[in-house]
Amino acid sequence: MTNFRKTTLSISLFSFFLFLCKSSIAADTIKIGEFLRDGSNHKPLVSPRKTFELGFFSPGVSTLRYLGIWYGNIEDKAVVWVANRANPISDKSGVLTISNAGNLVLLNGQNITIWSSSNIESTNNNNRIGAIHDTGNFKLTEANTDRVIWESFNHPTDTFLPQMRVRVNPQTGDNHAFVSWKSETDPSPGNYTLGIDPSGAPEIVLWGRNKTRKWRSGQWNSAVFTGIPNMSLLTNYLYGFKLSSPPDETGSVYFTYVPSDPNVLLRFKVLYNGTEEELRWNETLKRWTKFQSEPDSECDKYNRCGKFGICDMKGANGICSCVKGYEQVSVGNWSRGCRRRTLLKCERNVSVGGGGGEDEFLTLKSVKLPDFETPEHSLADPEDCKRRCLRNCSCSAFTFVGGIGCMIWNQDLVDIQQFEAGGSSLHIRLADSEIREKKKSKIVVIVVVVVLAGVVLLGIFSLLLWRFKRKKDVSGKDTDTSVVVVDMSKSKDTTTAFSGSVDIMIEGKAVNTSELPVFSLSAIVKATNDFCRENELGRGGFGPVYKGVLEDGQEIAVKRLSGKSGQGVDEFKNEIILIAKLQHRNLVRLLGCCFEGEEKMLVYEYMPNKSLDFFIFDETKQALVDWKLRFAIIEGIARGLLYLHRDSRLRIIHRDLKVSNVLLDAEMNPKISDFGMARIFGGNQNEANTVRVVGTYGYMSPEYAMEGLFSVKSDVYSFGVLLLEIISGKRNTSLRSSEHGSLIGYAWYLYTQGRSEELVDPKIRATCNKREALRCIHVAMLCVQDSAAERPNMAAVLLMLESDTATLPVARQPTFTSNRRNSIDVNFALDSSQQYIVSSNEITSTVVLGR
Ligand SMILES: *[C@@H]1O[C@H](CO)[C@@H](O)[C@H](O)[C@H]1NC(C)=O
Ligand SMILES: *[C@@H]1O[C@H](CO)[C@@H](O)[C@H](O)[C@H]1NC(C)=O
Ligand SMILES: *[C@@H]1O[C@H](CO)[C@@H](O)[C@H](O)[C@H]1NC(C)=O
Ligand SMILES: *[C@@H]1O[C@H](CO)[C@@H](O)[C@H](O)[C@H]1NC(C)=O
Ligand SMILES: *[C@@H]1O[C@H](CO)[C@@H](O)[C@H](O)[C@H]1NC(C)=O
Ligand SMILES: *[C@@H]1O[C@H](CO)[C@@H](O)[C@H](O)[C@H]1NC(C)=O
Ligand SMILES: *[C@@H]1O[C@H](CO)[C@@H](O)[C@H](O)[C@H]1NC(C)=O
Ligand SMILES: *[C@@H]1O[C@H](CO)[C@@H](O)[C@H](O)[C@H]1NC(C)=O
Ligand SMILES: *[C@@H]1O[C@H](CO)[C@@H](O)[C@H](O)[C@H]1NC(C)=O
Repeated sequence: MTNFRKTTLSISLFSFFLFLCKSSIAADTIKIGEFLRDGSNHKPLVSPRKTFELGFFSPGVSTLRYLGIWYGNIEDKAVVWVANRANPISDKSGVLTISNAGNLVLLNGQNITIWSSSNIESTNNNNRIGAIHDTGNFKLTEANTDRVIWESFNHPTDTFLPQMRVRVNPQTGDNHAFVSWKSETDPSPGNYTLGIDPSGAPEIVLWGRNKTRKWRSGQWNSAVFTGIPNMSLLTNYLYGFKLSSPPDETGSVYFTYVPSDPNVLLRFKVLYNGTEEELRWNETLKRWTKFQSEPDSECDKYNRCGKFGICDMKGANGICSCVKGYEQVSVGNWSRGCRRRTLLKCERNVSVGGGGGEDEFLTLKSVKLPDFETPEHSLADPEDCKRRCLRNCSCSAFTFVGGIGCMIWNQDLVDIQQFEAGGSSLHIRLADSEIREKKKSKIVVIVVVVVLAGVVLLGIFSLLLWRFKRKKDVSGKDTDTSVVVVDMSKSKDTTTAFSGSVDIMIEGKAVNTSELPVFSLSAIVKATNDFCRENELGRGGFGPVYKGVLEDGQEIAVKRLSGKSGQGVDEFKNEIILIAKLQHRNLVRLLGCCFEGEEKMLVYEYMPNKSLDFFIFDETKQALVDWKLRFAIIEGIARGLLYLHRDSRLRIIHRDLKVSNVLLDAEMNPKISDFGMARIFGGNQNEANTVRVVGTYGYMSPEYAMEGLFSVKSDVYSFGVLLLEIISGKRNTSLRSSEHGSLIGYAWYLYTQGRSEELVDPKIRATCNKREALRCIHVAMLCVQDSAAERPNMAAVLLMLESDTATLPVARQPTFTSNRRNSIDVNFALDSSQQYIVSSNEITSTVVLGR
């Protein structure tokens, strides 16, 4: 009896186990001779990690059946792809299989083909296999070769998924568009399409019926879409788009989107009503939340204010206005736009006393650049760009955008939007008389200022002359008078700088504690185990850095200002002011600060992989950072720097970019750190001078090391050095005693010999992408040129790094390190924080002169 019981129990357990096996291993593939049937026993194909499923469904209240792909293991199984969108099956008799010709086919109850992956190839096709992948892609491949015959990602419906590659072919205008559903419950093709408009600089466009434009993203500048001002902020999920290069054999390039966190589910969908929604799955709320939608505001609607109109949500008299110098064509009706008030020089009739001055340009700042349908664009420089515009009477505006180059509008300006910040500058062509009006008043002001300044200068000059005379009388020596003039200008500059106006202004705006969490001293002491030595990670610009673990388990890095000496206070302030305002995935993130008593500390996210020098200069680790990773790190640093120079609300020169200031997170993403030396620049300021040159030997540009002049181009120089170090795995200074004098000198030597390849770190040379490596070295040679003007800006650098098609200018020989090395060496003294300081006179605090 007991025996019998035991047997039944074990049998039922066994069958239960069998049942479990059967139901838990859901298929993710379909082969020839297999069928995926609709009906009561319908079991969809499930991707290996259950992220997506493929099967039959009915949308909403509809009873029609469609073959589609939807999300697997979340509550809201949104549909992302439909096969037979225009051809529904009216009952549950549908079957998916692979035909004898090797195509995926969807048959109805009458064995009639409803949909097919229609591929005419019929050789060697009896081993084809269809599989649903965790990306949401349904692929038909040849089982033995893995060759992809067909994939749903190449035939999207209304949804763009991460990892999807949208093909753009500038030559054919081909742009795999997404087409909306007809209604919420009808997947058949609706009124709206979304795609990449490849004419000119590519942009995303949402089209309505008859291909009328509804919205556009603004031109792609190789890093962001210029018409989405917040795109470079880390906080939203838009960062991660990329245009592939080089073009493949058909001339196509691909737009891809790689989210910063692959575990976040994201989808971009064109709704039936013409809204494009960007959605993210929120696991807490168990629903899709919208993080952006387009068009978002009234001004995002395409051409809202007509040609030559500007749409500004904050406009004083309604959202529409005309560009200055333009007037409304028909008062009260913006759809007709604006027209120029005064004819351009080339339009004026000379025989009736036209003539007049050359046309001039009015600059609109922070705008979404007008649409650009029949573009003329090139990599000419800004001055040349302007001349080209003046040459053609139909040119109405031009601009020069890093990453795109010169753009000239020989057409009406359409869809300009005014942003509060971000955006681009646009130079509008106007008759000189339109600009003159404004200039007159300016001239008066300038004259007054000049006269006043003259009086003051004259006073100072005579004072100095008097003192000089007295001195001369005393010493009896003859000195060149021009020396006096130079001295005077210097002393004048230093006094204005010492008034501290620059610093105070920055401070006044800055440390907004509501933006920046404050940690208590006790929490930090606890986290770092009372700053114990084992927790010391290293030394930053102004003091030791400790690792810590907060109560909730979050790992942090704490930078502690080495208190009493007072040294480093400026750098500390500088860092807190700057970095609190910066947000980018390639900049280290400040979590908060702590001020209590004597203690001043900054709290950062902890970077488990330390800094880049830890890897690339360490023989045992060099091989770990292969070429692919090094290139990704290079790109990351370039993006971070571009953000500092251009895309953030402030314009920032880092001034101390070096390998040890590039930190690496757990995924080896590079993050620029240490803003103690960084400087904010005013909008129009291009160059500044500093009395104290602070930086690190080997990374300093000639003009900075020699004259204390710094600009974005001095960072570009440092970036060039960094590039060479990352590629070669050698420190710039490590070759100082060699015949080439430095890594730069050695790189130049190899570059001129056509042997640049030999520069690549031998540990990774065999496996590196040679084309990419050579391009990087070429870009580095452009960055380390002696003349700041000849160095590219970071936007151009990024463009050159990422696009195989850009033709790179020939680099000039960098002579600075090899020839003048000794002359600056003698001026340097090593301070405690491994930074070399050179003082050009007795004043040692760092000040920014001129504005
Ligand atoms: C459809 O084809 C299958 C196999 O080819 C066959 O068994 C079935 O009877 C056919 N159905 C109809 C309605 O023709
Ligand atoms: C759009 O196309 C339809 C049919 O193709 C046509 O009837 C209609 O007039 C067009 N509308 C516009 C605004 O061009
Ligand atoms: C950009 O971001 C800022 C702050 O995050 C916000 O105030 C502003 O409205 C955003 N601008 C646009 C156009 O979304
Ligand atoms: C699509 O266009 C048709 C024809 O103009 C219109 O009747 C329909 O309402 C539109 N559908 C949507 C969702 O806008
Ligand atoms: C389109 O539909 C979505 C969701 O139903 C809604 O949020 C959005 O405002 C609608 N857009 C328009 C232009 O009607
Ligand atoms: C999900 O939504 C909740 C409530 O709005 C929010 O607090 C949380 O941050 C969201 N989660 C993510 C991952 O965005
Ligand atoms: C505005 O101008 C457009 C185009 O000329 C015209 O179709 C429309 O009827 C006008 N609207 C009004 C309100 O006058
Ligand atoms: C210029 O003005 C003269 C005199 O009014 C006229 O005869 C001539 O046609 C005009 N030329 C053009 C190009 O408009
Ligand atoms: C001026 O622009 C027009 C319009 O794009 C173009 O057709 C013409 O060739 C240009 N002329 C010159 C001299 O470039």
